Amino acid sequence: MGNKVLIKTNQIVKHFGLTHALNGISIEVRRGEVVGLIGENGSGKSTLSSILSGIYPPTSGSLEWKGKPYKPVDAMDAQRHGVSMVTQEMGTLPGIRVADNIFLGREEFFARKKIVNRKKMYEAAREALGKIGITDIDPEAPIAGYGLEDRKLIEVVRAIYTDPEIFIVDETTTALSQKGREIIYRLIEKFQKEDKAVIFISHDLEEIMQVCSRLIVLRDGDFIADLSREEFEENRIKELMVGRKLTGDYYRSDYDGTYGKDVVLKAERIYAGHVLQDVSLELHRGEILGIGGLTDCGMHDLGKVLFGMEKPLYGSVSFGDGTKITSAKQAISGKVGYVSKNRDQEGLILSASILDNTVLPSLNKIMRTGLIFRRDEKNFTDKQVKDLSIKCREIEQDVRDLSGGNKQKVVFGKWLGNESEIFILDCPTRGIDIGVKAFMYQLMYRLKKEGKSIIMISEELPELIGMSDRIMIMKDGKIQRTFHRSEELNESALIKEMV
Ligand SMILES: Nc1ncnc2c1ncn2[C@@H]1O[C@H](COP(=O)(O)OP(=O)(O)OP(=O)(O)O)[C@@H](O)[C@H]1O
Ligand SMILES: [Mg+2]
Repeated sequence: MGNKVLIKTNQIVKHFGLTHALNGISIEVRRGEVVGLIGENGSGKSTLSSILSGIYPPTSGSLEWKGKPYKPVDAMDAQRHGVSMVTQEMGTLPGIRVADNIFLGREEFFARKKIVNRKKMYEAAREALGKIGITDIDPEAPIAGYGLEDRKLIEVVRAIYTDPEIFIVDETTTALSQKGREIIYRLIEKFQKEDKAVIFISHDLEEIMQVCSRLIVLRDGDFIADLSREEFEENRIKELMVGRKLTGDYYRSDYDGTYGKDVVLKAERIYAGHVLQDVSLELHRGEILGIGGLTDCGMHDLGKVLFGMEKPLYGSVSFGDGTKITSAKQAISGKVGYVSKNRDQEGLILSASILDNTVLPSLNKIMRTGLIFRRDEKNFTDKQVKDLSIKCREIEQDVRDLSGGNKQKVVFGKWLGNESEIFILDCPTRGIDIGVKAFMYQLMYRLKKEGKSIIMISEELPELIGMSDRIMIMKDGKIQRTFHRSEELNESALIKEMV
């Protein structure tokens, strides 16, 4: 069966109103392949995958499934054919249980005379979760109790439950820790071994080169290249993606790691949630303080506590002058900005425009004699859109319609615009393409030089090492060890403290 074409696209064009997301894409995916889709934010990766998996119809062009015309009417229909996708954005529904999410729209599997046998459904969910090695998620529990990572894995179970022949993974690994990633990698191998196929989307070049057998490069909705494994070469791929040679250093190049003496933010003996235990830290003026560890080490919770979003059970957070931070509102008025790992739920109002999202924390600043002028709001937003090269049609457009990475940039933009003095960034470059990533690192460095202070919580060790003045490694809710910036510091030294 080897090398037989499973799915094929012929000159797929997709327009969303005036946005030309895809301009005639013709690709094939064969059995036994793991095809990577790569391209900058807004290049059309999610749109193409969504068309394959029945979420949108193409504007023009056609699809073939195993040599026959294929026109899925919706995602369920695509799944019946054998095409399943885990979407980039959160795809679970908050109000219901885990099992209901897994079997949404397929309850009839467990029904007799329209009555759903819930016990059978829970059992099936437990089995499906167990099959991919997840035993700590309770199918009967409401989904709201689970974090981003677990919910992503629940989506994965939902996608593969029907035994698809093509499994599309859109930027799923960025939301996952190593453990979750391993689950995905094992699944990918399984698909490949069973002579099925995978389409894999990620901004992590190293990961994509490791996992994929072939790469398709998109740029601005155009097909740019199709590379086989022998042709994988990091710089070449980057060049194809951005359409020019990338010059300049990615991370900051100095190793002095100096910062001001003043403390601008202070946490004392924080105990919070289920994890954080006796965490104290001081952030200084002009410092980039990196915080790393495994996903569940408590670092993401710490970010929320520092921003006043989550109340500690014991201990306190205060500004340098001793004023306590007890709410996010207070943090914001004290010029603290927070970029959440979970941007869709905590960082953005999806049904509002880019403009409204961007100006939100800065309304006081934009206001003139008590009035807010639309033109001022526009200028303010235009600047952020330009600085961060946010790819959009117009600033009045709903944030919902932006590509994943461009949503992340809007979150960043709103805090930059507010001229925050302290930035708490939780995985700030998650889902951001390499071109913009480099820009964000330069920006962070510039902010540091201007005397702003940054806490960067990250699961990417190279970025921690590359950017931080100090790095705190957390483990099991505690600070395990603090490293100072140095040329000798390497990943294995950090990993040793993490596990
Ligand atoms: N539902 C929609 N309505 C309007 N425009 C959309 C919609 N979905 C995507 N777009 C636009 O289509 C273009 C391609 O977006 P797409 O989401 O496919 O990019 P992507 O390659 O997945 O980017 P990222 O890496 O940031 O996820 C973007 O300009 C985006 O704003
Ligand atoms: Mg996308």
